[in-house]
Parts: sequence; C-alpha cells; structure tokens
Amino acid sequence: MPANDRIIEPEIEPKPTVREATEAKAPEGMITIDADTGPLRSETKTFGKQPSTGGGGDGTFHKRLPPVDFSASLKAGVTAVRRNLAIVMLFTIASNILVLAIPTYLFQISDRVLTSRSLDTLVMLTIVIIGAVILQAAFDALRRFILMRTAVEIAAQLGAPILSAAARASLQSNGREYQVLGDLQQVRSFLVSRTLLSFLDAPIAPLFVVAVFLIHPHLGCIVVLTALMLLVFTQINQRMTAEPFAEANTAQVKANLHLESMSRNSQIINALAMIPETVQIWGKDTASSLKSQVIAQDRNITIAAISKACRLLTQIAMLGWGAFLSIEGQLTGGMVIAASIIAGRALAPIEGAIEGWNQYSQSRAAYARITALLKSSPLNFDRLNLPKPEGRLDVERLLYVPQGTKRVVLNGISFALQPGDSLAIIGNSGAGKTTLGKMLVGSILPTSGSVRLDLMDLRNWDQRQFGENIGYLPQDVQLFPGTIKANIARMRLDADDEQIYRAAMLADVHEMIASLPHGYETVVAADGAPLSGGQKQRIALARAFFGDPRMVVLDEPNSNLDNAGDTALLQALRHAKEHKITVATITQRPSLLSSVDKVLLLANGTVALFGMRADVLKAIEARGIDINTGSFGHQLQ
Ligand SMILES: Nc1ncnc2c1ncn2[C@@H]1O[C@H](COP(=O)(O)OP(=O)(O)OP(=O)(O)O)[C@@H](O)[C@H]1O
Ligand SMILES: [Mg+2]
Repeated sequence: MPANDRIIEPEIEPKPTVREATEAKAPEGMITIDADTGPLRSETKTFGKQPSTGGGGDGTFHKRLPPVDFSASLKAGVTAVRRNLAIVMLFTIASNILVLAIPTYLFQISDRVLTSRSLDTLVMLTIVIIGAVILQAAFDALRRFILMRTAVEIAAQLGAPILSAAARASLQSNGREYQVLGDLQQVRSFLVSRTLLSFLDAPIAPLFVVAVFLIHPHLGCIVVLTALMLLVFTQINQRMTAEPFAEANTAQVKANLHLESMSRNSQIINALAMIPETVQIWGKDTASSLKSQVIAQDRNITIAAISKACRLLTQIAMLGWGAFLSIEGQLTGGMVIAASIIAGRALAPIEGAIEGWNQYSQSRAAYARITALLKSSPLNFDRLNLPKPEGRLDVERLLYVPQGTKRVVLNGISFALQPGDSLAIIGNSGAGKTTLGKMLVGSILPTSGSVRLDLMDLRNWDQRQFGENIGYLPQDVQLFPGTIKANIARMRLDADDEQIYRAAMLADVHEMIASLPHGYETVVAADGAPLSGGQKQRIALARAFFGDPRMVVLDEPNSNLDNAGDTALLQALRHAKEHKITVATITQRPSLLSSVDKVLLLANGTVALFGMRADVLKAIEARGIDINTGSFGHQLQ
C-alpha cells in the first residue's frame, strides 16, 4: 500500500464479534436444512414458513432448489445396480443349470436310448430337453433385459449430478471434468457388455468343474489345470495391456478437448486459414492414441488367441483321454462327449473375462472418476440459507497466484463498499481488473484473503442463492444458444415476462430487441449471431440486472457501445443507485467516472488509490496525470 495514500485507510473494518457470530452459524457442510435425494427430484421445498418468492424482498428468505446430495445420488445408483445384479445372478444360475440340458441329452441318447432302443424314452426326453432349452434362452434374454434397464437407470440417476458437479469443478480447471460424462457412458456400456455376462457366469464355473469331476476325476483335473492356466493368462494380459490402454485413453481425451476448442473457434479457424494446423494437432493426439491402442490390442489379441487355443487343446485332451478311459471300460462314449461340452462351458467365462479385461478395467477407472467427482464436489455441502443480502461488500487482503504459476496477479487488495455504493475500478491493461472482478463474483477463488458479501465469505454462501443475488457482465460476453428472452432470464424457466421486460428496459435493449423479426423469441446462435458485439453486450447487461440483484459487477460494459449504449449504461447505473444496488464497474473509459461514488485505481495488481471519486481524481491530478488519456497505472510507478 503506498505510504502517501490517506484515502484508503478509513474504510469500515467490520467488528470482529459480528463477523465471528455470523460465520459461526455456517460451519462447512454441517447444516442441513431439508434433506432431499438430489437434483433429479423436481419438487421444491422452502425454508421456514415464508412462501417462496423467487427474488425475495428484503428480509425474506430465499427460494432454493432442493439441496444437492451427490453421495445420495451415487448411493441410489449403486443400490439400483446391486439390486438388479442380484436378480440377474438368479437368472444366470438358472440359465447355467439349464445349459446342462444338451450334454445330458447327448449322454442319455447315446447311453440309454441307443442301447434300449426305446422310442418312448426318446420322445419324452426330447420334450423335456426342448422345454429346458427354451427356458434357458428366455432366462438369458431376461437377464439382458434387466441389465439394459440397469444401464439406463444408472445413466438417469447419475447424469445430472455428474454434469452439475463437473460444471462446478470446472471452475478450478480447464473443463476436463466434463469428460466424466463420457465415463458414465463407459460404465453404461460395460453394464450391457458380453464381458459382464462372462463375469456373472464365472462364479457358476466351479459347478461345471464338479460335474466333470463326477464324470471322471481325471477329466476334472484336466479342466482345473486349464482353468488355472487361463487365470494366469488373465493376469499377464492385465499387466501387459494396462499401460498402453491408459496411454491411448489419455491421448484420446486430449484430442477430444482440442476438438471441443476447435468447434468453439470455428470462425477464427476459417478466417485465418488455420484448418491444416488445427487438424494436425488433433491428428497428433489421435495418432498417438491409436498407436497405443494397436500395441495394447496386439497383446490382448495374442493372449486371447493363446488362451483360446489352450481351451480347444483341453477339449481334445479330454476327448482323447476320455476315449482311452472308455476303452479301459471306465466311461461310456456319451459321457466323454458330455464331459467335453461341460468343460467348454466351465472355461468360457474365463476366456470372456480375458478378452474383456480392458473394458472392465477402463470401466472401473471410469467409475472411480465418477465417484471422486461426486464425492469431492463442493456442491455437496449445504449452506445456511441467509436473508436476501443488502449488498455490503468487504474485500480483505486478496492475494491471487494462479495455480501452477508463480505470478502474483493480485496482491493485498482491501476495500469495502456499502449497500448502494458504486465503484469504478480503473487501471491499465493487465493491471488485474478482470481478475478482481471475477473474484468479486466468486468465479475464481483467491489464493488467500476473502471477499465477503453482507459479512459472509463467498465460499460460505449457498451458491444458488448467491448467484441469484448478484449480476455479472464479463469482459468477453458469451450468450447461450437459445432465445434472447431465455438469455436475459439466465435460462430460468420460471422467470416471469415482467422481470425480463424490466431488465431489458433497464439496459435499454427493449427497442433494439423489438426491432428484430422475432423480438424476444429471436434465437441466438452459439457464436452470438444475429447480434452485433454491442448488442450482445447490452443483452448481457440486461442479464446482469435480471432478477433484482443486490450486487453487480460490470467488466468493461461499454467497450463495444456507441453513445446510445453509453446512455443506457448510465441509466442502468442510476437505477442501481436508486435501488441501492452495489455496483462495481471496471472501465478504461473516464466518461463513466462521473456517475460513480468511489474510484479504485489498480496498478500491477495492487490498490494504488481508493476513495471517494473527487478525492481520487484530485490525487490523480495532483500527480500530474490526465485521466482523459485513459492511461493511469504505469505513470504511478
Ligand atoms: N490464470 C492466469 N494465469 C497466469 N496469469 C494470469 C492468469 N489470469 C490472469 N493472469 C495475468 O494477470 C494479469 C491481469 O489480468 P486481467 O485480465 O485481470 O487484466 P485486466 O486489468 O482486466 O486487463 P484488460 O484491461 O486488458 O482487460 C495479466 O497480466 C494476466 O496475464
Ligand atoms: Mg480485463
């Protein structure tokens, strides 16, 4: 803090007792006001006896969505899977036992029908066996029906929670978490895969081994030996393929992220003829993914082929040794063939597991990522629902060092605003204005220090309630694909038309919107078409003021505006003043300064000057700087 600055100091320092008392009410994740099982439920519960008002007047408790509890959603999903798998297991046991029908038939025909020459026995036997086979097919189909529905169930249970948690988590990263939705897809396809069926069949395999033992212990030993050998192959397969498959996956994720950014920037890619370069970047990642996949699949296929050969050789061994035993008179021909078929059934699940091991391990990893995302989401912590804020803002010793860098972007920023205050944040390009603005609305979190709205740290506000009570116009305005009306209403379906109209009037966009062929129903494309840059900015201004916010941050709201736009902005600021809305406006243009109470001059991430407008302007002038040139910061160095 500059020593010669007398203006910064006397800002209100909240009494510690008040602060402690307020914060003590909301320890992290401790207070649950009303429990619900997650975002899938549509019913809304209100807090206390107050009717929900959407925006709420002063002192009215605010409407909230049902509190999210991702752990509960996860538990519900997992319980559904467990329950369904238990039912599927019953069908699996039944259908596996019925599988024994055909070897039994064979055995009976060769050893009983052919020797006794009884037609009646043949007919009876055939009828029973046909029944068994049909039943087996039906059971098999039933278990697959159930698995398919389980996959749908888990997608329905977890889709919304995952997307919510990913959207929240992406605040701290570059949007990688959105890929977890793809992980859900992976888990879903595992649930309907042949691999899972093999896994389900596996526990029944010992039963078949016992059946072979009962036919002859020698044959049983051959099956057990092969099974052990196949299990060893499974382990080898897992060891040899895990790494290349993981590499393939990582490269694929990178390629996908790049693809996303390409689709976002398609206009610039075309304008600057960057297609070959962008395709090349994508191609590099895709190629390395494919390369790793080929390595992994090569190993997988080789081991699968060896294990298949092993299984076939086992059957030959069984037939050969069985023939020898029947020559010795210990077995009949029918028994030998039946034993060979049963052995095949015993070994098939192991073979299936080897082939599908990669899918299994990928799905397991995907599930682990889903669990981690859902369990660690800050949305899980329910916050105390507070009265509608008045708009008092306290910023204390903010320090911001972006993750993974050593650069101090903001350093020791402290100031305070009373409800209804308007503040202009000025400073050179790169001074940290946008970063400070984002911090005021909680879209980035400070490394240390705090931003508090009505004495409560932003981190402890119920996120939904906080968002509804603030407005933000970012420097880089992006609208959502959808109608202008929906954009102004922040995509809320329950917004009433009057609120939308009021916001549009406030930002003075009503006339502009009315002149569009479809008015408020005009659909805005992802790139903002058919709106111009200035029009987009004004619709974003309306969005910022939608729903009667108590604190609004505008980041260079007039960078694209003409004179009419400037007038609209001044009108919005006047409205804010009348309604005691706290406004922080980041600007490079001195013209806005005439309509604010306080000015904060930011230089290199620190507060150079802060105070009442007249005082700050005088201080700037005293230093011989002409603010009309629109350049302040570096002259102070
Ligand atoms: N995530 C980040 N990692 C590294 N540096 C960052 C990060 N975010 C911001 N910065 C740096 O912080 C500085 C301030 O950026 P900011 O966008 O806040 O400037 P600004 O004052 O809004 O500038 P302008 O007037 O051009 O909009 C810049 O030098 C920028 O490089
Ligand atoms: Mg900026």
